[in-house]
Amino acid sequence: MTDINNAIQQLSKTGFLNIDIDPTLDLFEEIEKLKKEKNAIILAHYYQEPDIQDIADFIGDSLGLAQAAVKTQADIIVFAGVHFMAETAKILNPAKKVLLPDLNAGCSLSDSAPPALFKVFKERHPDHLVISYINCSAGIKALSDIICTSSNAQKIVESLPATQPIIFAPDRNLGAYINKQTGINMVLWNGACMVHEIFSLEKITKLKIRHPQAKIIAHPECESSLLAIADFIGSTTALLKFSEKDPAQEFIVVTETGILHQMQKNSPTKTFIPAPPDNNCACNDCPHMKLNTLEKLYLCMKYELPEIIMDETLRIQAKKPIDKMLEISARYGL
Ligand code: 13P
Ligand code: SF4
Repeated sequence: MTDINNAIQQLSKTGFLNIDIDPTLDLFEEIEKLKKEKNAIILAHYYQEPDIQDIADFIGDSLGLAQAAVKTQADIIVFAGVHFMAETAKILNPAKKVLLPDLNAGCSLSDSAPPALFKVFKERHPDHLVISYINCSAGIKALSDIICTSSNAQKIVESLPATQPIIFAPDRNLGAYINKQTGINMVLWNGACMVHEIFSLEKITKLKIRHPQAKIIAHPECESSLLAIADFIGSTTALLKFSEKDPAQEFIVVTETGILHQMQKNSPTKTFIPAPPDNNCACNDCPHMKLNTLEKLYLCMKYELPEIIMDETLRIQAKKPIDKMLEISARYGL
């Protein structure tokens, strides 16, 4: 059996390639070679492991990654992130090959909104517009009017008439935060991110007592009790930029730990303390994001597998609300 047939057969069982790699290979060099040979670009989210962030051509939050996916001239997009992100890149780039190193890299937030149940929920609110956070499946996107990310959610909501009834899905925490910021009352789908819901208010408060000068910076996917004690709230890119510009020397970072790599790189003299989870696990690491490894990234580029394949009708339906988001974001210079 040829190598490629072997790989395809294995993928159907595992969702990723697990082929022996010559241990003497310098994977950074090999990946750089593959990028050039194949005209491929690596887009990585901040929650990826440091090695992957270091080899990526672009690192960003969900909005930045979607915008980079629209702009790229590459033939192959290698998405170092989770499935909904790679799927979004494919929705925007039907003619390009979009690869995800491990197809199992899902998202608890996306899983919390099954399209069949959401359709029933939506039918109960016929006069409502649906704004969905980008952390959802193509099936949910297809049922939505506008997509948003944590970078642009508030602006998108504020761009609509104040009297417009809205359903916000799937993240109840981000939805509640936007309700509070805008004073409106969107109907919220009851979904959440397993990572951002695990932080311990008690442990973070104790950390703050030990580090009184530290600023608490948090992602809006966190629960409201945590957001209430934060000095700054924003998307991963916004948190990163804040940590660079703010004069504080210490930060308690209430989001997935992967972002600390860029924070420390960009501000080497500052101290970044990862916010602890409410038990002794490493649950402030996203288990889905961390399924991608440098080895899987290399194999995925070498064999051009696994690839994101989509139903064309679904792709077209899911694209409309993403285009709307990109258009509103451009209007506000986001
Ligand atoms: P952003 O990077 O867009 O802030 O999203 C965070 C997240 O949880 C991605 O899965
Ligand atoms: Fe999903 Fe949360 Fe992981 Fe982001 S951090 S991919 S929202 S589970």
